[in-house]
Amino acid sequence: MDLYEYQARDLFAAHDVPVLPGTVAATPEDARTAAEQLGPRVVVKAQVKTGGRGKAGGVKLATTPHEAALKAKAVLGMDIKGHPVRQVLITPASEITEEYYVSILLDRTNRTFLAMASTAGGMEIEQIAAEKPEALAMVPIDPAVGMDEATAGTIVAAAGFRAEVAEAVTATLKKLWDVFVAEDALLVEVNPLVRDGQDRIIALDGKVTLDDNARFRHAEHAALADVQTQVSLEARAREKHLNYVKLDGQVGVIGNGAGLVMSTLDVVAYAGERHKGVKPANFLDIGGGASAEVMANGLDIILGDPDVRSVLVNVFGGITACDAVADGIVQAFRLLESRGDPVNKPVVVRLDGNNAEQGRVILDQANLPGVFQVDSMDNAAETAAELAAAGA
Ligand SMILES: Nc1ncnc2c1ncn2[C@@H]1O[C@H](COP(=O)(O)OP(=O)(O)OP(=O)(O)O)[C@@H](O)[C@H]1O
Ligand SMILES: [Mg+2]
Repeated sequence: MDLYEYQARDLFAAHDVPVLPGTVAATPEDARTAAEQLGPRVVVKAQVKTGGRGKAGGVKLATTPHEAALKAKAVLGMDIKGHPVRQVLITPASEITEEYYVSILLDRTNRTFLAMASTAGGMEIEQIAAEKPEALAMVPIDPAVGMDEATAGTIVAAAGFRAEVAEAVTATLKKLWDVFVAEDALLVEVNPLVRDGQDRIIALDGKVTLDDNARFRHAEHAALADVQTQVSLEARAREKHLNYVKLDGQVGVIGNGAGLVMSTLDVVAYAGERHKGVKPANFLDIGGGASAEVMANGLDIILGDPDVRSVLVNVFGGITACDAVADGIVQAFRLLESRGDPVNKPVVVRLDGNNAEQGRVILDQANLPGVFQVDSMDNAAETAAELAAAGA
């Protein structure tokens, strides 16, 4: 789960990472009130879970509470890369003398934790990382040791922080590691970490991704979840014990077995390149013994995603043979119809493996509206992508 900047700020504060005070506002009036308390000079910041807010005009300086209200009015309702701005963070304007970049993340490729730091932080960090990778120090963190004084010192030296700020940056890195470990994060990023006019080091913008697999350890994190579609779909799926992950494409995907579903995502994304760039809308593994009810619940969740334009059911019959899966699909259609939610989007079905032939006959005879049977995985992905592109 990705957090909003203000939520990251709150977690940072709880672990003594130096941050600025801040108030979240959903209306220009609230922004004015916040600016009266925090100002006079404040920054109005769009709260969206995407990067590049500043460049998109979502971070604005205001010198009076009245101006803060006007800036909030301009930023609220903005669309930043497809993310509507519903809230702004009002925070005092800081006198910045230098902007740095620091992050701690799970480096899956190298199977370790990794700290990254640069003294050239700010809005151009992606460009710097691409063009001048040597300006971005990367230091693996041994989980058994963590961010001790020596490791933090190595990072500070590798990135070339000035002597005046070395101590404060070292201390901040150690506290960010506390956040990373105590909150079970996959990413803790501060950009910019700034040096202000009084040589204080402050985390001015934070990005945190929490590890959903550690959710059971953090009842308190439930309050951080969004109440938007995406999260509620995932929450509904969880209630039904479905292995569902929302993605941002248009082709709903159901398969049996995590490996098969993963490769289905790949072939759909590949086929999508030829069809208006459509992509998979989700990961959904209905597992080995998929009953009609599981299939119905899966279809129901997928069709509940407003972005979905077509569905691809990709099943390789094993212990649960294809005829049983086909029965499940037929019953799922009936079940959804009886629930008042008939399937109203094209569903491409590819059955292979155990009893595939019998399964295909069952589907043919059921003559379900909008169901297309395709015999290979590649062709099925092609058809699903084409249908999604046509319906988009
Ligand atoms: N409180 C503040 N006081 C002064 N300047 C600020 C403040 N907050 C942000 N800024 C300036 O605005 C820039 C962009 O702010 P911020 O990093 O929060 O957004 P962003 O980087 O565009 O967003 P994202 O990190 O999501 O890409 C900062 O690099 C900094 O120069
Ligand atoms: Mg930033």
